Amino acid sequence: MALMSLLEVQGLTKTFAGLTAVSSVDISVEDREFLGIIGPNGAGKTTLFSLLAGSLPPTEGRVVFDGVDVTGWSAQKVARTGLVRTFQLMRPFESMSVLENVTIASLANRSRKDARRHALGVLERVQLAQYAGTSSGSLPTAGLKRLELARALAMEPRMILLDEVLAGLVPAERAPMIELLRDLHADGLSVMFVEHIMAAVMALSERLVVMHDGRVLTQGVPAEVIAEPQVIEAYLGEDYA
Ligand SMILES: Nc1ncnc2c1ncn2[C@@H]1O[C@H](COP(=O)(O)OP(=O)(O)OP(=O)(O)O)[C@@H](O)[C@H]1O
Ligand SMILES: [Mg+2]
Repeated sequence: MALMSLLEVQGLTKTFAGLTAVSSVDISVEDREFLGIIGPNGAGKTTLFSLLAGSLPPTEGRVVFDGVDVTGWSAQKVARTGLVRTFQLMRPFESMSVLENVTIASLANRSRKDARRHALGVLERVQLAQYAGTSSGSLPTAGLKRLELARALAMEPRMILLDEVLAGLVPAERAPMIELLRDLHADGLSVMFVEHIMAAVMALSERLVVMHDGRVLTQGVPAEVIAEPQVIEAYLGEDYA
């Protein structure tokens, strides 16, 4: 049997009423890899995550995770295989506490009795434990970003799909988040990381995929990819290079 990557994506396509948001995407992600994904607004990055995590059904193509064809499965069912996303637009249950929000996610894999204890451990991990009793709606952006991460981690992913978890953070808040992501990866988590903040992308990514108009424009070693003229033209601009 051929050796498979942890995630194998083949010919993945999503069409919305005539607009092709994701177009014949082929991507493989290895176990324990940290893969960065960049591209201009509307390139299809969030839609790709929605297709991978079961938030949207694809129009065409296949998603195989850990050897299992999960194409068209519900988000809940995909999450149980170990593939979990965060949302670019965070949507916690605002009237519930931070701990309750994470406990709900923990319930995916454990009993009610264990879920609360497990959720507390996850809050410790993302340094939100002191806000456990705070209502989620009153968290500032940095807290909401960590809550979004905590809800995903509570489902015990093997691979996490992070959609702009640094967006909206002021520069002083970014470094501790980057540090946390590095630690999670070092502990064995596989990561796909969509982000516009290039310093973070370059600090964390082992490999880089560039999306443009729903397609993979190029991929490879980050330092080489960002020097490609087509990437500068489509996304980065002359300033970055
Ligand atoms: N539910 C939807 N219905 C119709 N069109 C959609 C839907 N979701 C996304 N699109 C369109 O698909 C394209 C890709 O959007 P997507 O949100 O995936 O881009 P993105 O790369 O995540 O952009 P950004 O960097 O701004 O977050 C856009 O043209 C968008 O308007
Ligand atoms: Mg997006």
